[in-house]
Amino acid sequence: MTTTRFLTGITTSGTPHLGNYVGSIRPAVRASRTPGVESYYFLADYHALIKIDDPARIQRSTLEIAASWLAAGLDPQRVTFYRQSDVPEIPELTWFLTCVTGKGVLNRAHAYKASVDKNTAAGVDPDSDVTAGLFMYPVLMGADILMFNAHKVPVGRDQIQHIEMARDMASSFNHRYGAHFVLPEAVIEESVATLPGLDGRKMSKSYDNTIPLFASREQLKKLIAGIVTDSRAPGEPKETEGSALFQIYQAFATAEETENLRQAYAKGIAWGDAKQILLDRIDEEIAPMRARYQHLMDNPAEVEALLLAGAQKARAIATPFMANLRHAVGLRALTAGPTQGKAKAAKSSLASFKQYREKDGKFYFKLTDARGAVLLQSLAIDSPQLAGKTIARLQTEGVVALEAVQEQLEPIADREAVLQALAELKAAAS
Ligand code: TRP
Repeated sequence: MTTTRFLTGITTSGTPHLGNYVGSIRPAVRASRTPGVESYYFLADYHALIKIDDPARIQRSTLEIAASWLAAGLDPQRVTFYRQSDVPEIPELTWFLTCVTGKGVLNRAHAYKASVDKNTAAGVDPDSDVTAGLFMYPVLMGADILMFNAHKVPVGRDQIQHIEMARDMASSFNHRYGAHFVLPEAVIEESVATLPGLDGRKMSKSYDNTIPLFASREQLKKLIAGIVTDSRAPGEPKETEGSALFQIYQAFATAEETENLRQAYAKGIAWGDAKQILLDRIDEEIAPMRARYQHLMDNPAEVEALLLAGAQKARAIATPFMANLRHAVGLRALTAGPTQGKAKAAKSSLASFKQYREKDGKFYFKLTDARGAVLLQSLAIDSPQLAGKTIARLQTEGVVALEAVQEQLEPIADREAVLQALAELKAAAS
């Protein structure tokens, strides 16, 4: 089975609330248990620096978010769970991507444009109070994604443009330096509704209407008591449509439980009773995680150790990959060849494909390096045309095709060597 790599980042700028849980943490933890999926989740603390200049708050948020994800069942053995700033290859890749990204593309990024529009409307300098960090935000995000060649990036709608920009950066880089990057795709969870907050608007820190994920039961009770309702008295039928209370309940309840509450609304349940039902339902799901959360919050060294172990896993990929990229752009030891530019790459130093027929009557191909060592070995293929097509794809599309044709190949021993060889072949051909 081919694996699909999922990757997403969480900016370390706040305390997780129920909206984050329903919209991101819970679906991500579930997805990470799916066979054939490789997940990368990370704490985007470099991104947090763009919005926050309170060091204690960044540190606190990093701990709270890590503890929340772990308490919600994220298994750090199964997924790669790390802190962005523990992977120095990411800012290095950010620079490489900066150099292949049009400034005009960044001018059009929503977050930057919103600031400019606001300044223009206020009659001040368009870039007033805009840091270069805000401007570069999409490139840092592109580096996060491309560093691990993620296929799928689960994000909110507001982030789709950033994923499209990451695709553009990947294409530009691949075009110049060979096929190093997979083109990522955004995944928007249609099935998870955005959770309304206490005032009925989308639950969001910026509206100050959130319910913290790990509020104590007493706090939870108080907050739920503050959810807006209408003034209908007990016994009067109530509308589920537009009821924040009902929508929050729905995000936690089974279809059957939801139906029961719908009927209770129709029969005129008192708001106080409905709120009690909501409190019990949320608490039933969250209470078992609370002890683990509290334990982790009280033992930050445990979280720190888990994150450092995660960074080690991440860097086992990032360090060799970055070495390849450095080589590809020409940041090389002066003794390393080729030094003449891609067009003049010495043919003899290149890997090559060989297609052949075995006694079983089937067709095969292999990719060998300049010294004849086998890098890639195909399985049996029925026709020479098909074998030829696969080779052509690998030659023209490089790493992207590698994912697509994986089923025709024997397991790859040295993936980095294969990627490097394909990239060099492609560069030499263009
Ligand atoms: N910008 C994302 C957000 O605010 C967080 C983030 C940073 C991210 N890097 C990422 C998300 C890479 C997905 C992939 O939600």
